[in-house]
Amino acid sequence: MGVSITIASGKGGVGKTMLTSNLGIALAQFGRDVTILDADIEMANLELHLGMEGMNVTLHDVLAGEADVSQAIYEGPAGVKVVPAGISLDGLRKADPERLEAVLTKVLGETEILLIDAPAGLGRPVVTALAAGEQLLLVANPEISSMSDALKTRIVAKKLGCNVLGAVLNRVGFDRSDLTLQEVEVILETRVLAAIPEDTEVRRSTAYGQPVILRRPDSPASIAIKKLAADLIGEKYVPPTPKKRSFMKRLINGLFGGV
Ligand SMILES: Nc1ncnc2c1ncn2[C@@H]1O[C@H](COP(=O)(O)OP(=O)(O)O)[C@@H](O)[C@H]1O
Ligand SMILES: [Mg+2]
Repeated sequence: MGVSITIASGKGGVGKTMLTSNLGIALAQFGRDVTILDADIEMANLELHLGMEGMNVTLHDVLAGEADVSQAIYEGPAGVKVVPAGISLDGLRKADPERLEAVLTKVLGETEILLIDAPAGLGRPVVTALAAGEQLLLVANPEISSMSDALKTRIVAKKLGCNVLGAVLNRVGFDRSDLTLQEVEVILETRVLAAIPEDTEVRRSTAYGQPVILRRPDSPASIAIKKLAADLIGEKYVPPTPKKRSFMKRLINGLFGGV
């Protein structure tokens, strides 16, 4: 039996799916047996972040009772196993969310680390995802509206017996009015395990359906996620030292562009 970690935030659009996909790959790169599952069955997009859309059997079919979950597990990048939710409206219509808990238990029985990409809000699907996860990674942006939603999620998770591992601050440095890491820790009453910077490479990678950790492994966001992965499993990760360009190269670059 593995460990399950729910990735939730309350607020939508803060980076849950980005974190689930990239953290899953980072953990797989450390040699772990990882499954990532899209529990956002209404607004699924894990498969889009991974460029894995259009799979034959998805979680929708499993929740409709038409397939076994083993048929909806696909091999993704770096060997990470992926359970896509399915993005069609037809699929969603027939899916019965009541079955999600049993499905999550089954998947957990066959993997070392299960990352559950939770939906936004605090409705039934989120509660199921929180109840199924033994651990919670709270994702938030360093802004007040993100804090109140994250705080509610943390409180509900605790009530459901989910252990709060800590918070992951995403899109740090986007705005000068950002809350500081210390302010976030006080508001959320939990440790900030990682600060992922605002990084244009993330947005670009999402648009291409390629996780940033594969497309731009040395970008600031990728490095922060790899470090988080290492910390979670007690591994050591030494980030690459930024390449220093010589004065002459910078001068030529400034004068003529490129080089
Ligand atoms: N650190 C980051 N820097 C820049 N853009 C980001 C970052 N994290 C997420 N994004 C972008 O924000 C958008 C929402 O992210 P997503 O993971 O889909 O949010 P959620 O799953 O919480 O709704 C995506 O377009 C993604 O590329
Ligand atoms: Mg999402």
